[in-house]
Amino acid sequence: MPTPHTLKAVIPVAGLGTRFLPATKALPKEMLPVVDKPVIQYVVEEAVNSGLTDILMITGRNKNALENHFDRNFELEVKLEEKGDEMRLERVTRSTDLADIHYVRQGDPKGLGHAVLKARAHVGQQPFALLLGDDIIDAAEDLLTRMLTLNATTGSCVVALMEVPEDELSAYGVVRVEPTESPDVVRVTELVEKPAAGEAPSNLAIVGRYVLAPEIFDILEHQAPGRGGEIQLTDALQTLAAQSESPGVLGIVYRGSRHDTGDRLAYLKAVVEMALERGDLGPAFGAWLDDFVDARRGRG
Ligand code: UTP
Repeated sequence: MPTPHTLKAVIPVAGLGTRFLPATKALPKEMLPVVDKPVIQYVVEEAVNSGLTDILMITGRNKNALENHFDRNFELEVKLEEKGDEMRLERVTRSTDLADIHYVRQGDPKGLGHAVLKARAHVGQQPFALLLGDDIIDAAEDLLTRMLTLNATTGSCVVALMEVPEDELSAYGVVRVEPTESPDVVRVTELVEKPAAGEAPSNLAIVGRYVLAPEIFDILEHQAPGRGGEIQLTDALQTLAAQSESPGVLGIVYRGSRHDTGDRLAYLKAVVEMALERGDLGPAFGAWLDDFVDARRGRG
């Protein structure tokens, strides 16, 4: 069985980002900054922290900003070197040195399942990690590492699950589950993409981390369009979960912090939370925020 270190990570970044217009008219939503790094850099750092340094991005229109971010910027590097500004130089070169990043175009954005299928030639016959490029997961939780270990020991596909309030379930892929011997690991028996109100099989939703078996490509190849006329990864996983001969789909129930930065309100919360956690900015930002909140409550 391949060790996690030989596995590849796939990050789709070809969505249209319509929830964040007009900011995403000419810029992929994955390039929006959270404090001083674009969202995509947090996601790449998470893959690298789990030992995955071969990364394939599935890109769409406006991919230049993404490619440039992970490429060298000689002009900036020379200027900072001349000034002897080591700290800022490290910030500029860090994204270039992080990982071995490859790119493939999705063409028409026909859905997440369609984007994943574009990874087939690069991934080959191995399991692979799939990280949605607009979802930030708390680095301290090591969720992806736990998912890779579960895949390595069981051979099953693994999805990250979170409990979601009832009125938000229709925005997610939602699963029916059975318990296993491990308290935070469940067997997924049914998956429904964006269920209509009242039709969700549970309150557990798939969030943007997966470890997938290569068999998923054969299923996606023949997957008919589902919700919204898009080729849905959730539908392909449902086919896999229903096959008696396959090792099926497991879920890890994640209870840490997660930010869907493609949603404007969640993005604003991400910026505030993550700025507060920063050693350099957190204390000053926190002091200002306390005053601001007091003033809003009329106590300032
Ligand atoms: P979203 O559901 O967030 O869709 O995609 P979206 O189109 O990007 O954004 P909105 O809803 O219009 O604001 C989930 C993930 O799948 C990728 C997105 O880039 C995101 O990481 N995706 C989605 C693709 O790569 N291709 C697609 O055809 C659809």
